[in-house]
Amino acid sequence: MNTRILVLISGRGSNLAALVKAAREEAWPADVVGVISNRPQAAGLQWARDHGLSTVALDHQAFETRDAFDAALLAACEAHRPDVVVLAGFMRVLGDGFVRHYEGRLINIHPSLLPAFTGLNTHRRALEAGVKWAGATVHYVTPTLDHGPVIAQAVVPIEPRDTEQTLAERVLQAEHRLLPLAVGWHVKGELHLQNGVVHHRADAAQALFFPDTATGAP
Ligand code: GRF
Repeated sequence: MNTRILVLISGRGSNLAALVKAAREEAWPADVVGVISNRPQAAGLQWARDHGLSTVALDHQAFETRDAFDAALLAACEAHRPDVVVLAGFMRVLGDGFVRHYEGRLINIHPSLLPAFTGLNTHRRALEAGVKWAGATVHYVTPTLDHGPVIAQAVVPIEPRDTEQTLAERVLQAEHRLLPLAVGWHVKGELHLQNGVVHHRADAAQALFFPDTATGAP
C-alpha cells in the first residue's frame, strides 16, 4: 500500500507542486492524497483541484479559538488517513496536541538555515543581520516553533545587491529541490532518528549547496 501524504498549505503552493511532481514522476511508493489550506483563497488550492487532488479549505478566521481550529484541522486531516503530513508553506502555528498526534510523521519546510531565523520574515532578517549564506530547512516538527530534528538543508549565497524578493526567489528554487528530496527519503523509509538527529541510512548528503545561484542561474 502506498504511503499517504497529506499537504497543508496557506498560499501559492509552489512547494506542493514540486512535491506532487516528484512523487508522480519518480514513481514514489506514495501518493499525495489531499491538500488542506487555512486560507480559502490560497492559489495552491486551485492548483491542487486542477491537478485532480482532493482539497479542503478550513478558514482559521471562522474559529473562535486556536484550540477549536486545531481540533477541526485534526479532524480534516484524519479524514484523509495520512501516513505523513507535510507543512508546505502552512503559516499557522499548530498546537501541541496536533503536533504530538503526528509526531515523527509531521514535516515542515522553513525558509532559513535553522536554528537561525525561526518565525516570519526570514529573508529580511537575514539581510539585516548581514549573513552571507541563506537557505531552507526541512525538519520533523516538534511543539517548539521551527524546531525539531533536521532532515535536510539547502544553502544559497547572499549577494551584495540582494533584496528580500531576490533572496526569497533564490531560496524558493532551492526549496523546490529540498522538500521532495526530504519527503521522498521519509516515505521510502530511508531515514532514522537517533538521539534527536536524523541520519540517512545510506549516508546520502543531507546538505544541498547551490553556490552558483548568486549569478542568477537557477
Ligand atoms: C516558502 O518559502 C515556505 O518555506 C514558506 O512559505 C513559502 C511558501 O511558498 N514558509 P509556496 O506556497 O510553497 O509557493
